[in-house]
Amino acid sequence: VDPSGVRTFDLTMQAGESDLGRGAPTPTWGFNGSFLGPTLRATRGEQVRVNVTSRLGETSTVHWHGMHLPASMDGGPRQPIQPGGRWSPHWTIDQPAATLWYHPHPHGETAKHVYRGLAGMFLLDDANDVALPKTYGVDDFPIMVQDKAFDGNQLDESHGLFQSTGILGDTVLVNGTPGAFLQATTERVRLRVLNGSNARVYRFHFDDNRRYAVVASDGGLLPRPVLTDELLLSPGERAEIVVDVRPGDRTVLQSAPPTGDGNRFTGGSDRLDILELRGATTLAPSPPLPSELAPAPDLADDVIGATRSISLSGTRTNFGKMDMGRVDIVSTLDTTESWTVTNADGQVHNFHIHDVQFQVIRYAGGPPPAVLAGWKDTVLIPNGASVELRMRFTDFADTQSPYMFHCHLLRHEDEGLMGQFVVA
Ligand code: C2O
Ligand code: CU
Repeated sequence: VDPSGVRTFDLTMQAGESDLGRGAPTPTWGFNGSFLGPTLRATRGEQVRVNVTSRLGETSTVHWHGMHLPASMDGGPRQPIQPGGRWSPHWTIDQPAATLWYHPHPHGETAKHVYRGLAGMFLLDDANDVALPKTYGVDDFPIMVQDKAFDGNQLDESHGLFQSTGILGDTVLVNGTPGAFLQATTERVRLRVLNGSNARVYRFHFDDNRRYAVVASDGGLLPRPVLTDELLLSPGERAEIVVDVRPGDRTVLQSAPPTGDGNRFTGGSDRLDILELRGATTLAPSPPLPSELAPAPDLADDVIGATRSISLSGTRTNFGKMDMGRVDIVSTLDTTESWTVTNADGQVHNFHIHDVQFQVIRYAGGPPPAVLAGWKDTVLIPNGASVELRMRFTDFADTQSPYMFHCHLLRHEDEGLMGQFVVA
């Protein structure tokens, strides 16, 4: 925090080499190091500034995924950072505590830049002091899950012949580590799980079928904990889970095949080990899980200012392929809108909207499942199904500077399954 009260972060995008367990170093990219980036953390009400410097040989950007902020600070394809360049966005944190993240978003090149290692967590805190594990690195852990394909010691960026989905890897990295384990020293641990992969959908499940509590989704805490033994997360989505640990525990967080999707070209039939959880022989006490966590989203009874339909098919939305010169939607400041988004082609698609957190009103013909009852910014849309989302546009009108909406399977996004909206 500088003397004027602004919390300032410095990020340098650079190329390097990392030990990813291949016997020889792997060429990678990172922020302030050779792979991934530091966890940034700020509190609601704080002013933040990030000084981003690029030492890359290519134009890139840094986008603050899930953040409510002015479009000119958003870090999408309209805020490029040239090689050797610098960009210093600043804004005030004004949203509930949440697990957000940051990653590049250059026009048509996002998949490659994220895949090479440019990604980090951005954690927000607020005054809601609900009793959850909260000591970073002790009982509260960032868990960034990414799958990588290798060619020897090199990251394999070639797209498989049938993989219209994009890159799927057979090696899972957690925070950049293959074969990761976590030594728990407390009765409960909170895992802030981010699917930071390009294309893979994970169904998180423990090998001993133990249940765990989902306590937060993309935009912050759920109304109440949801007990489950499995959770689907598509690329870009986050969930915070609280897991009970027993003394001397051994259990493995795996990704089981998503039910109903056995398509091997989308990774649907793969079973992968993600993280081994090991319990110490004596565990420090943890607070009991609260039964109430946060107010539920409240847009269901709002007056609707505009109703829109968006369909996702192949490499385009119903507006066409992404065109930097075309604005697809003009939304009005301080209104609530209803967007019905349809997966129209039977491929795997999800949907992400910049700037806002939305409420899921309908999901595949029914009410949303309990894990989608909180604020979301990215949602998986089952094949052929529709979701109804409601969002409210507040604070930042700027007709000159669009935000993006898109599928977060990064190859789809790069190939054109993206559009632009402005708030006027
Ligand atoms: Cu995480 Cu438009 O992106
Ligand atoms: Cu898609």
